[in-house]
Amino acid sequence: MDAATVRESAIEALGVSKTFAIPHERRTTFKEYFLHPLRRSAEEENRALADITFTVERGEFFGVIGPNGSGKSTLLKILAGIYRPDTGVVRLHGQLSPFIELGVGFNVELTARENVRINGTLLGLTRGQLREQFDDIFAFAELERFVDQKLKNFSSGMLVRLAYSIAIQVPFDVLLLDEVLAVGDQAFQEKCFATFDRFRAEGKTIVFVSNDLDSVARFCDRALLLRAGRVEALGPTPEVIEEYVGAALEPTQ
Ligand SMILES: Nc1ncnc2c1ncn2[C@@H]1O[C@H](COP(=O)(O)OP(=O)(O)OP(=O)(O)O)[C@@H](O)[C@H]1O
Ligand SMILES: [Mg+2]
Repeated sequence: MDAATVRESAIEALGVSKTFAIPHERRTTFKEYFLHPLRRSAEEENRALADITFTVERGEFFGVIGPNGSGKSTLLKILAGIYRPDTGVVRLHGQLSPFIELGVGFNVELTARENVRINGTLLGLTRGQLREQFDDIFAFAELERFVDQKLKNFSSGMLVRLAYSIAIQVPFDVLLLDEVLAVGDQAFQEKCFATFDRFRAEGKTIVFVSNDLDSVARFCDRALLLRAGRVEALGPTPEVIEEYVGAALEPTQ
């Protein structure tokens, strides 16, 4: 690959597959149980992602849509390096800020202050930067009163506010967002949307997983439609959404 290609694409996924095992309890008689004590469960393969290939350009807002269980979060976790793909490769250019799922990376037994310190450090903030950003993180989340409350006593909306505030205050080139806005209230959603506009102006790359097709249509240049772990459509957002909505409206035989 030449240097120009490296500079232009933010993410390349090539032939990415991931299979999980679904355990099943096998019906056994008492006799079978005693004859084969170690052979009581069978496993079924669940192909969560099958041969996924796509490229996200630098500065692009890229949507990932599809029904529940179609592999969206699994794909994002592979991009973030949380899961390793069974086959295929992922190349990510630039600094990553993953905001994957509610609660990932948080220790609920610790206070918000302690969690911000730990997460900020893990995401690459120096002590000085952390000191500088600390108030901004709580101000954006509007959680200044709750700095010393343990996260186990936070509501899910409060958690999402804090997690999003941390994710966007660390320096990043590529932001991965999984269902962020679903939990926040209207006012917070609009606040997040305002940050999207800023990121676009700054040339950041965003991968946005959502079941909220209106916001995908509003922000994403292109979208990827997953169905049962496969790429069903990839292209300009309006076309991909039309394909998804059209398929949902088709009569089932
Ligand atoms: N850690 C895991 N272990 C086993 N199976 C998993 C794991 N993570 C995901 N799966 C399976 O992979 C499939 C895809 O799940 P995934 O969470 O990626 O779906 P999704 O598209 O994000 O769905 P949703 O819209 O509900 O968030 C599902 O069948 C799920 O059961
Ligand atoms: Mg998901």
